[in-house]
Amino acid sequence: MVSDAHRRVIAIDGPAGAGKSTIAKALSSRLNMKYLDTGAMYRAVTYEAMLRELDLHDQRCVAQLAQECDLHVGIDRVIINGHDATVAIRSAEVTGNVSTVAANSDVRTEMRVRQQEWATAHGGGVIEGRDIATVVFPNAVLKIFLTASPEVRAQRRVDQSGGDVTEIAAAIAERDLLDRTRADSPLASSSDSIIVDTSNRAIEDVVDEIEKLFLERSL
Ligand code: DC
Repeated sequence: MVSDAHRRVIAIDGPAGAGKSTIAKALSSRLNMKYLDTGAMYRAVTYEAMLRELDLHDQRCVAQLAQECDLHVGIDRVIINGHDATVAIRSAEVTGNVSTVAANSDVRTEMRVRQQEWATAHGGGVIEGRDIATVVFPNAVLKIFLTASPEVRAQRRVDQSGGDVTEIAAAIAERDLLDRTRADSPLASSSDSIIVDTSNRAIEDVVDEIEKLFLERSL
């Protein structure tokens, strides 16, 4: 049976740099709903595995870490096994390795269960990721797939964290390819997702559109 909390989810999926975090956070505050960044969960497991010098290709070993870890992902803090990994999970090293960990099916199963439990505990929420609409919350009241041109996505990352735009564009393209082509729950839009191109639009404008769609559906 699908719980009502799982229906009261706004699923925000899309590739890196499409504007998911900014838009999902703004929506959650406008609608007074909780916010969950599921990418931060995969990043935290990756960080912890690297800290322990695990072989990231050893699927069993990384899955065991994912199953046993104490993980808290809040709006502005990520704590894994008691230490604050908020900044470290955004490092280039973690970003470069996270797609390997995210392709591990047993890690995904564990994260999916935790995401569903989170939604049950909070009565729904605004949840961003790659497979939220397709796999984790197929009954979400609203499914949005955000996109933007590769140039815009790379420039946004440079504006946020600096770096060379050509190198960042290549790194994003590589990560997207891994995320789109993995066997288990790849990055994809759901047939009932609304595709929103954020390339040449102000954030406020996109948030207004999604808020309107949500309010229409929750009447
Ligand atoms: O959104 P992000 O860039 O922080 O996500 C980090 C990685 O985690 C991304 O490369 C793919 C993976 N991910 C995933 O596989 N499934 C999700 N629901 C969220 C993120």
